[in-house]
Amino acid sequence: MLELVPITESIGTDVRGVDVTAGLSDSDFERVYRAWLDTTILLVRGQDMTPAQHIEFTRRFGEIYTYTRSQFNDQEYPEILILSNKKENGKPIGSAYSGRVWHSDGHFLADPPVGSMLYAREVPPVGGDTWYGNMYAAYDALPERVKERIEDLRVVISRVQSRPYNYPDRPAPTPEERAEWADVSHPVVRVHEETGRKALMVGGNVPWRIEGMPEEESLPLVTFLQEFAVQPRFTYRHTWQPGDILLWDNRSAMHRATYYDHVAHTRLMHRTTITGRRTTAAAA
Ligand code: OGA
Ligand code: MN
Repeated sequence: MLELVPITESIGTDVRGVDVTAGLSDSDFERVYRAWLDTTILLVRGQDMTPAQHIEFTRRFGEIYTYTRSQFNDQEYPEILILSNKKENGKPIGSAYSGRVWHSDGHFLADPPVGSMLYAREVPPVGGDTWYGNMYAAYDALPERVKERIEDLRVVISRVQSRPYNYPDRPAPTPEERAEWADVSHPVVRVHEETGRKALMVGGNVPWRIEGMPEEESLPLVTFLQEFAVQPRFTYRHTWQPGDILLWDNRSAMHRATYYDHVAHTRLMHRTTITGRRTTAAAA
């Protein structure tokens, strides 16, 4: 029987008593979907899914976004992105250094993905945890005067600038990529399209600039917000076991990967991504 158990006081729902490959009834799914929106991440442990079943389960939450130019899509199922340090015939089969800073996925895109579903296949004995933060809770906890100050602000994000930080293992952006990757801006306070709630969205390793604000004013503000957002009271650090599924709402959660010994151990994760929607600001 389906059971929904909070992971911590501030974030996440542990979904128990289900086999996702058997399919959830509409009424059970409705409860699970609601918990996802309300608590920002869902954990389902002990699942044995094929890539096709992973895709099917993801589709219940929304349309799948396929990275069209990734060399790390699964050969047979391009909807699945592989995160791994493993190599086959000397070639990496997956992205090895994804997400080692607090971020939301695809924040350098005009329409960032709605969510991502990560499924653990092989995990190291220690390390390689993923950290999640509830950005509704972070926003709610801000002092009123800070809320007022940031209400209408937008943050400018440069994909070109962030590339060497996000992917130290990949070559620098080509001239074509530089031309294609226009800067985007997103509201610092994002209004969730489905819940109407406000979430603080200030992830990233490059100190993003606030639109129209001088750097000496912008930098301390962004740094303050980034540090405020990821205090332990808003976060949960997940230690993976094979068979764990974690689905995050990219509109209300941030996340980050952590270090593991990639020489001694292997990690193999499959990720699906749900298509993006335009971000909405509080002022809109
Ligand atoms: C991601 C990501 C973190 C991890 O898949 O978007 O940031 O721990 N992954 O693999
Ligand atoms: Mn990520």
